[in-house]
Amino acid sequence: MSVDTLTIARPDDWHLHLRDGAAMGSVLQHTARQFARAIVMPNLAPPITTTEQAAAYRQRIHQALPRELVFEPLMTIYLTDHTAPDEIRRAHESAFVHAVKLYPAGATTHSASGVTNVRRCARVFEVMQRIGMPLLVHGEVTSAQVDVFDRERVFIEQVLIPLRRDFPLLKIVFEHITTAEAVSYVREEKGPIGATITAHHLLFNRNSIFMTTDGQPGMRPHYYCLPVLKREAHRRALVSAATSESARFFLGTDSAPHAKGDKEAACGCAGCFTAASALELYMEAFDQANALDRFEAFASFNGPDFYDLPRNSQTVTLARSAWTLPAEFPLGDASVVPLRAGGTLQWTLQA
Ligand code: DOR
Ligand code: ZN
Repeated sequence: MSVDTLTIARPDDWHLHLRDGAAMGSVLQHTARQFARAIVMPNLAPPITTTEQAAAYRQRIHQALPRELVFEPLMTIYLTDHTAPDEIRRAHESAFVHAVKLYPAGATTHSASGVTNVRRCARVFEVMQRIGMPLLVHGEVTSAQVDVFDRERVFIEQVLIPLRRDFPLLKIVFEHITTAEAVSYVREEKGPIGATITAHHLLFNRNSIFMTTDGQPGMRPHYYCLPVLKREAHRRALVSAATSESARFFLGTDSAPHAKGDKEAACGCAGCFTAASALELYMEAFDQANALDRFEAFASFNGPDFYDLPRNSQTVTLARSAWTLPAEFPLGDASVVPLRAGGTLQWTLQA
């Protein structure tokens, strides 16, 4: 199918880092222009661990939103070894906290307060299972003995399978999946499980971290994120999942802005900034796979259906019309380099 415009129900972003303060003030407009709603990650410093903190953060987001944009932040709270079951009940009653995020301690940006052993959270999981609160998992083990490219696969074996055996009705979103093993697990296992897939994991494999687009060697920190890009066979498995008939896979950008200097550094931060061109990037991946007709389910239906939220009634239109992505965008007092900075994108989101 080769079409030049595509009109679909307005999409949502089911995994997003908005940050806080001036940085949030800079990046929020990009997401609000592209998406109706977004699941907002709680990994601030310090993290959002209570409903009260989530309420205040939500209010800051609303205040930072340009008046002409309509956007609803869907809040999450950050699970720690000490989260009380009562906090989960409060979150559920609030109606604006839509999920609880599990970061294995040490797995990624601002995960130091994360969970050291999921067994410590059994009472919390019981409550979540009962009330239907989704658990969003950063699915990587953190053991120094496990190769960084194997951490997602090992997480499935060591953490996810036992967790789902103990809590078979717990709703889980396996976030930003990157491997063929995760695709198979989500596609085939019984029970309430879904997965988000980023545009960068659909478009790039791990070579992109280590060489330029024309094949010259060179370290490219803006392609470094966690879980790290994997080899080509995994990228292909992700594309086949995203474009499949399975309703378990949905859009989650994991757009994660870091100041340019924090990425272009001796110990650079993990995260790809894609918020300003998210739908255009995803469209490229679906177009390459000849699957534009599958995009609306992935971007606009499967996510709200999983979260038991209404699908959006407005629409957006994407047109096949090339444009150049800026080299940088403002990020508070600094700047952020987007993924594919200065590159040509084939699709444009119409205003
Ligand atoms: O690449 C990533 N960046 N992965 C994460 O899990 C966190 C995120 C961030 O917050 O920067
Ligand atoms: Zn993330």
